[in-house]
Amino acid sequence: MRAVDLIVKKRDGQELTADEIRFFVTGYTHGEIPDYQASAWLMAVMLRGMTPRETAELTLAMAHSGQTLDLHDIAPLVVDKHSSGGVGDKVSLVIAPLAAASGLPIGKMSGRGLGFSGGTIDKLESIRGYRVNLSVDEFRAQLKQIGIVLSGQSVDLAPADGKLYALRDVTGTVPSLPLIASSIMSKKIAAGADAIVLDVKCGRGAFMQTVDNARALAQAMVGIGRDVGRKCVALISDMNQPLGCAVGNALEVKEAIDTLHGKGPADFREHCLTASAHMLCLGHKADSVKAGEKLAAQLLDSGQAWAKFVALVRAQGGDVTMIENAELLPKARLVQDMPAPRGGYIAAMDAAEIGMTSVELGAGRAKKGDPIDYAVGLIVHAKVGDRVSAGEPLFTVHANDEGKLVPAEKRLLGAVEWSDKPVKPLPLFYGVVE
Ligand code: URA
Repeated sequence: MRAVDLIVKKRDGQELTADEIRFFVTGYTHGEIPDYQASAWLMAVMLRGMTPRETAELTLAMAHSGQTLDLHDIAPLVVDKHSSGGVGDKVSLVIAPLAAASGLPIGKMSGRGLGFSGGTIDKLESIRGYRVNLSVDEFRAQLKQIGIVLSGQSVDLAPADGKLYALRDVTGTVPSLPLIASSIMSKKIAAGADAIVLDVKCGRGAFMQTVDNARALAQAMVGIGRDVGRKCVALISDMNQPLGCAVGNALEVKEAIDTLHGKGPADFREHCLTASAHMLCLGHKADSVKAGEKLAAQLLDSGQAWAKFVALVRAQGGDVTMIENAELLPKARLVQDMPAPRGGYIAAMDAAEIGMTSVELGAGRAKKGDPIDYAVGLIVHAKVGDRVSAGEPLFTVHANDEGKLVPAEKRLLGAVEWSDKPVKPLPLFYGVVE
């Protein structure tokens, strides 16, 4: 087989066989196919698309390009969750302990934040001592002992995806539906998931800006799951405004803690209950979404999910006193309310701008490896559809650098659109794809 023939075949819109896709992925991962040929192939895929069968084969080829995890000796049914990333998305911090409290073992490998999306392990690292670099043996032992692990990648999952993604990033081939869907699913499959809840965000603060595009991605991923023998449910959720109120690492941990105590912002709690309900159904802990929501609410309100979170933080070396008293989490030196410049209804928010404001304050990274400030970020006090009076706090900015306060306030002001007439609140979800 020759790489050039596979480029030509895809360029001409023909369907590649499983062997051809494996040849390409293996050859590129091992450095036998050079970047220029892989780039041409990716562009051909971007322009010509892939059939569902090709997409499933690409997913499997990438999933098996490195080590894979098999957790079946610990969890007979491995359930996982993936979010396509968003602003204020701290859902894993709540639904992982919640699922574990129901008796579903959850061993999750998460990523760091990049761009305006925060990463779960960055958030957890705002708890002093919390270790995210567990070895596979530690990962397995903890999962067996307490039924929950939230760590970084203990193994090099789907290295072909990492290599191809880096190339896509610099060749204009990231926004290809089959490439995105196979990239996400390959890592989940390599991590050993049998059943996956996919939270596909849509809107201004998401990868997919429209409901139609988000639905198409959701369908592609659920289709891959079906083709490779994994059960998937995709929720299409709103990301036109931040989820919950807190944006920034320690601030989000605090909001997750409130929610684990049965409090927290209503939209965030409801989002967590719905996503958990689907997870509980996939894990056979509930026989309907409604029953799953009821069980999830019980696990939150009884403190059982909170107890799992405490066990998780303790097991991974985190300072439990910091979560028992959230006032001990990293705190910014400057905390400033930003009053509404006028009265009226919030007509729209630009979640990406709000996320970028938090990044500029120091909560995120401009590039991989940059240090982050766990304490900084912001609190959103009003959501789309809310009526606000002039002078009422609209945001609270948490900063450690005086020079960043005014630019942050300016950016946040520009992220809000107003109306004099009542505006309908945004839905939390736009649909479910199964
Ligand atoms: N997230 C991924 O993991 N891969 C993509 O291609 C896009 C988003």
